[in-house]
Amino acid sequence: MKNFFLAFSLIFSILLSSACVDKSANSTTTGSGDGSGDIKVGVYVDLTGQTSSFGQSTKNGIQLAVDEINAAGGVNGRKMTLVIEDDQGRPEQAKTVVEKLIKQDKVVAVLGEVASSNTLAAAPVAQEAKIPMITPSSTNPRVTQVGDHIFRVCFLDDFQGSSIAKFAANNLSGKTAAILGDVNSDYSKGLTEFFEKEFTKLGGRVVAKEAYTQTDPDFKGQLTKIRNLNPDVLYVPGYYGQVGIIARQARELGMNMPLLGGDGWDSPDLWNLGGEALKNSYITNHYSADDPNPVIQNFVKTYKAKFNNVAPDSLAALAYDSAKVLADAIKRAGGTDSVKLRDAINATKDFAGVTGTISINAERNAVKPAVVLEVNPATKQLLPRTTIYPEGMSAPTAANSNTMSNGNMMNSNQISNGNMMNSSMTNSNSNMNSTMNANR
Ligand code: PHE
Repeated sequence: MKNFFLAFSLIFSILLSSACVDKSANSTTTGSGDGSGDIKVGVYVDLTGQTSSFGQSTKNGIQLAVDEINAAGGVNGRKMTLVIEDDQGRPEQAKTVVEKLIKQDKVVAVLGEVASSNTLAAAPVAQEAKIPMITPSSTNPRVTQVGDHIFRVCFLDDFQGSSIAKFAANNLSGKTAAILGDVNSDYSKGLTEFFEKEFTKLGGRVVAKEAYTQTDPDFKGQLTKIRNLNPDVLYVPGYYGQVGIIARQARELGMNMPLLGGDGWDSPDLWNLGGEALKNSYITNHYSADDPNPVIQNFVKTYKAKFNNVAPDSLAALAYDSAKVLADAIKRAGGTDSVKLRDAINATKDFAGVTGTISINAERNAVKPAVVLEVNPATKQLLPRTTIYPEGMSAPTAANSNTMSNGNMMNSNQISNGNMMNSSMTNSNSNMNSTMNANR
């Protein structure tokens, strides 16, 4: 009996000490150190505010990626877990929740936000704490300039703005343009500047620049001023919530010119807000769920099966890619040590994502083509019209289009051939040129 108790207490104390070891291993992993427990990743998005469809899609995309990663055995045998925070689409709240994710939850990396102003508010917190942050979809150039721990897997607004300006001038033969932008959004302000720069360079003229804020109930004052100048195209670099109403009010005022926009239009809510008024509109975006490329169609199928048959918008696709890029970097880093992880994210090269091939350059940006999509309210589809490549990156040839490592580039080629592709449509922005080590 005595021996039994001795053995029992021995086993018990071994169990106890191993539990302690496990526990301490866990606490280093959930910080920025290395370890063997679950890998905790923070996500901050807008789930209840003005841009909540962005947050919902982003959350879904990340969740799908993490579920796939865990089902395949995790990252180096460790499970990835998410801590998701709602920032209500407000910059101050974005900063607060990222502070919480890092200090309280001790996440090893942060994914988010979508709207550039929110990411710009929160990124300094991650930079200060030296916790890597990857924004799936914030396109304002200043975002990754916050510091060496801030990354993105999407293109930038200098490229996006100049791409739609080229489309306006070359494909729509626009000579004059008006811009109606959101004065409180870094995204909108940047696109206004970059569009004007390129459109002017191409010989066009911006005849009016009008402003709104996200709380404006009505845009008819600004639209009437623009109508009087009768521009060939109207560029609205805003988010879907206002864009839909602007489109309706513009058409009500008899303005039938093409409306142009950016990725901020992309939302399942756009169709109800804008309806038929969205006809004759074109936007730049990151990908199209209607791209027949099998890589994309597989993703669309899996996503729809998981999330109520809703097709993944570009937010969902970029979010999915951001989580996969992070997991790949943790794998290559051999753990979650923040310096090693930062360097591994920066070393991402030719990663085959659903939004194309992702390579992170020295400025911590991804250099990728943009697609111009035609907005089709009748079928609620965004239809690919042309693909615009950054300078130095060309449309894939038939020869390389068969290799799967090219991801959806293969199909961009088909789209380009089938539609309005203009071979002169490569980006001439010298800024992009200097970051073109991504042409590999
Ligand atoms: N690019 C936008 C921004 O930086 C966010 C966005 C991306 C919105 C993709 C929709 C689709 O603010």
